[in-house]
Amino acid sequence: MRTQVAIIGAGPAGLTLGRLLEGAGIDAVIIEQRSAEYVLGRIRAGVLEQSSVDLLRQMGVNQRMDAEGIFHDGIELSFDGEMLRVNFNELIARRVMVYGQTEVTRDLMDARTASGAKSIYEAGDVHIHDFDGETPRVTFTKDGQTHQIECDFIAGCDGFHGVSRASVPPSAISLFERVYPFGWLGVLVDQPPVAEELIYAHHKRGFALCSMRSLTRSRYYVQVDSTEKAENWSDDRFWDELRARLNPDIAESLKTGPSIEKSIAPLRSFVAEPLRFGRLFLTGDAAHIVPPTGAKGLNMAIHDVMELATALQEFYGERSDAGINAYSGNVLENTWRTERFSWWMTQLLHTFPDSGDFGRRIQRADFDYLAASRIARQSLAENYTGFRA
Ligand code: FAD
Ligand code: PHB
Repeated sequence: MRTQVAIIGAGPAGLTLGRLLEGAGIDAVIIEQRSAEYVLGRIRAGVLEQSSVDLLRQMGVNQRMDAEGIFHDGIELSFDGEMLRVNFNELIARRVMVYGQTEVTRDLMDARTASGAKSIYEAGDVHIHDFDGETPRVTFTKDGQTHQIECDFIAGCDGFHGVSRASVPPSAISLFERVYPFGWLGVLVDQPPVAEELIYAHHKRGFALCSMRSLTRSRYYVQVDSTEKAENWSDDRFWDELRARLNPDIAESLKTGPSIEKSIAPLRSFVAEPLRFGRLFLTGDAAHIVPPTGAKGLNMAIHDVMELATALQEFYGERSDAGINAYSGNVLENTWRTERFSWWMTQLLHTFPDSGDFGRRIQRADFDYLAASRIARQSLAENYTGFRA
């Protein structure tokens, strides 16, 4: 088999890249180790920046998003129950959209099926080869047979645990990482959201987030120790803990029910440098991880592959290397800006086991500064809605 671009991974990065390349007339194959159902079963992000919404529209995968996505003008912050609204629309004339990663993924998969573009699911033992030369290859097993795809480029869209970054010689790559001593325990429930907008709550018992997927389906999170197991959390224990961390009036109006999904996500900040190795490119979670506090991971993945698709279009259309040469630098600039914001939101809102009373006073001062300063709120709004230099 031969293709121009072999895409490893059918998450948001791989599927968006596949769609963009298809639109540009560049041949690509997606190789994914899991089944499509498994990929759709992972409950992850919920918030799209305007630029992500715009791209999905430009790619023609917006029908359901435009019908079901919900625009939010802002978010609510809560500090020990004291509420502060940050109105993005009023502060900087921008908004975000609540539309789940699962739905984005489903829409992109459906579009790919409809157009007949090639995807290989349940590929075993995926390996990438010879990306330091002109003719890279991908090998994998499927239905008991070994297959090989020759290509011009490999796009590593295979997430944090994928094979792409792991195939780069350690001497050629620098890794920057901070692992936080806590995770998020998330619950999905078929009940209307507790508030019209997302609530990010700091509390001395730990962080909590009230989010949603639709007007009838809600997503809630509480900060838990990184050693916790989801099995230790009955639904009742989860709801009690969530209520304890919210403003009492909000806690009172919380509509609970049986959880339809419950899982723990660890929190991590991580960046690999560089993001290009000959004819291999790293994108999305394969390249960088942010803690979910700033709602950035999915949006970064989409931003990366927009940059990569443009670079590959220049390569094939204009025979120019300029775009692929600039890819790593351009993406890393956006990455570090977004890492800083996600780290800052995380340290403002979570309870850190070792930061003591001094740390808590600094968090309070940060919150009070946001409450008092329009410029501070504008800065949050600019970053949350997606800042591009
Ligand atoms: P992934 O979604 O991880 O996709 C990678 C794909 O590659 C997977 O399908 C995997 O099966 C496949 N793969 C892995 N290894 C191989 C291999 N060897 N061969 C072939 N295929 C392979 N982001 C936001 O923007 N907003 C949010 O609100 C938000 N909330 C989040 C909440 C939680 C609880 C979590 C966990 C994440 C959240 N994120 C959020 C982050 C977001 O989900 C990720 O950043 C996003 O999924 C990254 O997309 P990706 O395509 O790069 O990687
Ligand atoms: C979610 O709805 O899953 C979600 C929303 C906002 C975040 C993180 C996760 O910052």
